[in-house]
Amino acid sequence: MAEAERLLRAAGFALTTTGDALLVTRRFRTDVDLRPLDENLLSRLLDAAVEDADPREVMPAVAGPAGWTRERRAAFLRFHRTRSLSAHPVESTYAVLLAGPAGGPRVVGAARLAPVPEQPLTVEAGLWLRRQVRGEGLGSAVLRQLAGLARAGGAAHMVASTTPENVASQRLLSALCTTVTRREDAVIARLALGDAWS
Ligand SMILES: CC(C)(COP(=O)(O)OP(=O)(O)OC[C@H]1O[C@@H](n2cnc3c(N)ncnc32)[C@H](O)[C@@H]1OP(=O)(O)O)[C@@H](O)C(=O)NCCC(=O)NCCS
Repeated sequence: MAEAERLLRAAGFALTTTGDALLVTRRFRTDVDLRPLDENLLSRLLDAAVEDADPREVMPAVAGPAGWTRERRAAFLRFHRTRSLSAHPVESTYAVLLAGPAGGPRVVGAARLAPVPEQPLTVEAGLWLRRQVRGEGLGSAVLRQLAGLARAGGAAHMVASTTPENVASQRLLSALCTTVTRREDAVIARLALGDAWS
């Protein structure tokens, strides 16, 4: 039992003894926050992406040599200015802010919610984080916050898709979503936003 408790704690679970029972709950990061993107955050977001992410992870494909070319940086800004920052936004984008020991929160990635036109009350979620902070439970915390925002915005379902090769993304989605459909070219996850997300 002691060994099981040690392993559970190491895996990020909180253990509480209540009478004869041992309550096991999953701990989520509380040092992460989503703030609606604005011009100031957009410039910090571009810095985070250029420093520590691959363009293919964070924006639609742009022709040309690999890496953060001048054209790709411009396309990144244009992408956000024509989607969430336009006069008629087609999606909501949030900067992922990570609290630090000093100097205020850092922008470490982006998360978005976009209505799915052919599916009423359904939004599509997407997110990316800079490499430095991946694999530390941040993605799970962000996805949960997105689900809360989607529900608060009136959505009944949240969907997300990834590629069969993207193991981290699949694990992230499988842990939260109610159904996960695996196709040859894509993995599609769906979460019913019930009362728990209010
Ligand atoms: C996908 C992404 C957002 C995940 O965020 P993250 O903070 O690294 O994820 P977490 O640390 O919360 O881990 C989520 C799950 O993935 C697993 N995981 C994380 N990194 C992994 C890796 N490199 N390989 C395998 N599993 C991994 C974790 O163990 C965890 O699984 P568990 O809940 O079963 O323990 C991040 O890797 C990323 O930004 N990738 C590039 C962009 C991208 O692929 N976006 C698609 C999102 S739909």
